[in-house]
Amino acid sequence: MTETYRAIELRRFADGFRSGAEIVTLDRRPPAPGELLVRNLYCGVNGIFDTQIARNAVDYVKIALPTLTGVEALGIVEATGSDVSGFAAGDPVVTTRFPGGYREWNIAPASHFVRVPEAKPEWLALASTGVSAMLAIEHVGALRDGETVAISAAAGGLGHILVQLAALRGCHVVAVCGGQEKSDFVRSLGARRVIDYRTESVAEVLAAEYPDKLDVAIDTVSGTIFDAFLDNVAPHGRVVVGGAAADLEGRPEIVTQPRIAHKLYYKGASVRGFMNGLLTDHWPAAREKVFELYADGQLNITFDSRRHVGIEGIFDAVEHLLSGRSMGKVIVDLRS
Ligand SMILES: NC(=O)c1ccc[n+]([C@@H]2O[C@H](COP(=O)([O-])OP(=O)(O)OC[C@H]3O[C@@H](n4cnc5c(N)ncnc54)[C@H](OP(=O)(O)O)[C@@H]3O)[C@@H](O)[C@H]2O)c1
Repeated sequence: MTETYRAIELRRFADGFRSGAEIVTLDRRPPAPGELLVRNLYCGVNGIFDTQIARNAVDYVKIALPTLTGVEALGIVEATGSDVSGFAAGDPVVTTRFPGGYREWNIAPASHFVRVPEAKPEWLALASTGVSAMLAIEHVGALRDGETVAISAAAGGLGHILVQLAALRGCHVVAVCGGQEKSDFVRSLGARRVIDYRTESVAEVLAAEYPDKLDVAIDTVSGTIFDAFLDNVAPHGRVVVGGAAADLEGRPEIVTQPRIAHKLYYKGASVRGFMNGLLTDHWPAAREKVFELYADGQLNITFDSRRHVGIEGIFDAVEHLLSGRSMGKVIVDLRS
């Protein structure tokens, strides 16, 4: 057993994750009472969140430098501290608590982990992104069976689960994504109308085919996609804001147009923010639901095909996600 491990530490606030962070070597201490010592096997990548953390721009996370980074990882319990119940050495576990992700080993309170059925990366994606998708669609979006639902970044880690969850509820899913391969992918997941924003205008398609018909619209991109969703929200519709990927590059964009109050109140519609990290009380119930759907074969997890390995592979994985070329959930294999 080596006595040290590597992790990615944010050393300074910077414009990008790579420029603010460094690989550090840390001592691996035994777990204190109430803690677990876990050997991480896979971590999930959240390139947009990581970039915003590097910029100190995530409002609800107060960062004291230096800080370890990364949110979610799946690992195996190596040892349990005294006073720990419900976990034993050899158990596969997932954490979704910052900064539990970008590190070879994790030593943290047992309450930061959940046991999962197997040490397979699917359980990592389900416990992290799957829970986000379930809460965005059901808790915040208040989705009802058969509604019309628009989803942006629909082929991504979050998006491809959202599409499936909405389709499972008998909803008509309008999926927005970039490129032919992503379009084919989301269609295979149950999307009924796919808008490839590189070849079609989201605003024009929605105005022509879905005027005032979106019961729920889940947007993580912002910009003109958010505008098009808002313009076509149905009476009593819910526009869920779960991110703003398009605003990463030196923005938010300043727009001059009537206040959105005018687009909402005549329809009794709403715009709702979704932030998974603020919904911890709802994680267990959402996790149970997505685990069950997966175990029943109703929900599939797709991983991006590019392989990233080791702590040093995390930087490339973050940048690959930011490039917009990834499809499905991006993870890094930490086994070595
Ligand atoms: N609020 C929450 O609690 C929460 C939880 C999880 C994730 N999120 C957010 O949900 C979104 C999806 O997360 P993910 O980790 O699953 O990522 P992802 O969807 O796998 O990857 C990001 C995708 O966003 C699209 N995109 C559009 N404009 C972009 C830009 N300027 N830069 C980068 N990507 C852009 C790209 O797809 P297309 O080109 O096909 O559009 C890209 O593939 C992110 O915005 C993330 O911050 C929020």
